Amino acid sequence: MNPDKAYYITTPIYYVNGRPHIGAALTTTCCDVLARFHRMRGRRSWFLTGTDEQAPKVVEAAQKAQIPVQQFVDTLAGEFQATWRRLHIAFDDFIRTTEPRHVEVVQEVFRRLRDRGDIYKGLYQGWYCVADETYFRDSDVGEDHLCPNPECRRPLERKSEECYFFRLSAYGDRLRQYIEANPEFLQPDFRRNEVIRFIESGLRDMNITRVNDGWGIPVPDDPDNVIYVWFDAVINYLAATGWPHAPDWENLWPADVHLVGKEIYVRFHATLWPAMLMGLDLPLPRTVYAHGFWVDAEGKKAGKRTGGIPHPIELAQEISDLSGAPFEMAADALRYLMLREMVFHGDTEYARESFLGRYNTDLANDLGNLCNRAVNMVTRYFDGVVPTPTRAEEEIVQLARETAQEYETALGEFRFNAALEAVWRLIGRMNRYIEEKTPWKQAKEGDREELAVTLYTCLEAVRVAATLLAPVMPAASGALWRQIGLPTTVDTVRWEEATTWGLLSPGTTVPAPQPLFPRILDAVKPDEKKRVSESKKVETTDQEKSRKEEGTPPAATGEQSAEAPVITIDEFMKVQLRVANVTAAEPVPNASKLLKLTVEVGEETRTILAGIAEMYQPEELVGKQVVVVANLAPRKMRGVESQGMLLAADVEGQAIIVQPETRVPSGSRVR
Ligand code: MSP
Repeated sequence: MNPDKAYYITTPIYYVNGRPHIGAALTTTCCDVLARFHRMRGRRSWFLTGTDEQAPKVVEAAQKAQIPVQQFVDTLAGEFQATWRRLHIAFDDFIRTTEPRHVEVVQEVFRRLRDRGDIYKGLYQGWYCVADETYFRDSDVGEDHLCPNPECRRPLERKSEECYFFRLSAYGDRLRQYIEANPEFLQPDFRRNEVIRFIESGLRDMNITRVNDGWGIPVPDDPDNVIYVWFDAVINYLAATGWPHAPDWENLWPADVHLVGKEIYVRFHATLWPAMLMGLDLPLPRTVYAHGFWVDAEGKKAGKRTGGIPHPIELAQEISDLSGAPFEMAADALRYLMLREMVFHGDTEYARESFLGRYNTDLANDLGNLCNRAVNMVTRYFDGVVPTPTRAEEEIVQLARETAQEYETALGEFRFNAALEAVWRLIGRMNRYIEEKTPWKQAKEGDREELAVTLYTCLEAVRVAATLLAPVMPAASGALWRQIGLPTTVDTVRWEEATTWGLLSPGTTVPAPQPLFPRILDAVKPDEKKRVSESKKVETTDQEKSRKEEGTPPAATGEQSAEAPVITIDEFMKVQLRVANVTAAEPVPNASKLLKLTVEVGEETRTILAGIAEMYQPEELVGKQVVVVANLAPRKMRGVESQGMLLAADVEGQAIIVQPETRVPSGSRVR
């Protein structure tokens, strides 16, 4: 292995046909987090992002805006860069496909593949979707001549022209063998299976040029044609390394990770691109990982076409305005919220309210309060000087160590939310620790020794949490370190600081406590306000009481109502919840809300009626996993016996089905 090889990570290059949104921001932030994490562990890392500018849809957007194309792409490329900088995205390189360094490499790749017979001229007759930048054969297209992608359905363009083809069909077997021999190549696992099925269905040669209409990369020696945007775009990853002439391109290539959204995975990143690399005799990227989407309430991808997801800077600004936190803290909050909310391998609904609610619970309340309470009490009881502990709290030391391990494993598996959950378990434990130790009583009773242990333990836990969070919230970690009197910065911090307990020196002076993430008081829409203010009144938790005693101001609003009757665990265990696979679904005549589902619960087949017809089409349910109450007395409705009940979240009267986070054996118990 080349000892100078950097950990090389890439995002897709984004089309400059519209402004960035939190879809692109998600992928870019995840890459940034991985790059920072590896850097922190002492490995040189190299993080590439950029913009995809040679596409017909970019020209279309420029024309619509009545701006010359070059000026249009320059402006948007600038906006992407500025957005990423404000979100603390520390990319090492930003590639634009209109740059000569990219154009030259694309033409070189084309020449080499043509020379070896992998590119040939032929006649293309078929269809093109500009919105998807994808070719479709006659057999893929219905009589309506609309894009077959259910999320697009735009009118297609008829194409009948001479063009160049890439001999993709020649690579099916080699690709499949490679994929099977290298399980880390295509991730997550279920997507690898999707790719294998796609290859097995037969790879067809791909049209890779179109007639030159004034925008695009000209075909070498045949400038009447330009190169198809996808064939050009994937080459950015290689072009940015300096291949083939730069002496050190192998210090970057092969990429360690291409992180992409699932829509551009199977056809482009998991088949076309690796086949092109095989044709060039170049090593393939180590891992290509596909993540899911932000979706709207109906499960549809949110983005430029559908709207519904905000510009990241506008959302961060809103968080800043609502909370009073400085913009840089709000930008970090947004990074955290995206990674924590998103179940990375699947789809996640984007809901502004969940983001703002989580800001309050996780950042203002859990993390902000822990730091604030600890520093406040050190100021009060030890004149702002970190006390000397006479012993270590072994349980907490152990938990901190386990947290770092879990975090490391989760990031290695692209489970960003799990990594953050681990850190929040530590934070949650520390908030309970304060409740258990009641340092204000220790102070009142004059137990200075134990008080020192308690407060030192809290500050150390804050230090460890800040260190673990540094890749995700670089500015906030800096603020946390400053708050506990440390000069640590994200540029100098090392991973060992997260795994070593006791690095905060007694005698260090802490500055006056500042609320790092002030809570959002007015996040809710006016009609929801009443409900929240009612629940605020019943909030007299232990935490609230002790906060008053220690003199720390309150944080986020607790939204739990105390109305539900309390049941014992035995009562709960009477309810048998099981995972079931939906094998068939159909409407129930004369019942607009009901669907009749056939489900398999382990070996058993059952019929269940569910009031979900307003939210789901029968066909989209087939294949899904659901959770059912398996021991409910059967009940006849509309002449059909329902043998159980399906669990669903009630969102303003709309039923959203509850599903296991990942696929599990049918019949699995839920508890
Ligand atoms: N230009 C191509 C990519 C070429 S890569 C060689 C492209 N660009 S895009 O602007 O449409 O960006 C697509 C990427 O943006 C997705 O793969 C994903 O990384 C991100 N997302 C766009 N919408 C998204 C969501 N709704 N949710 C999550 N990520 C999304 O395709």
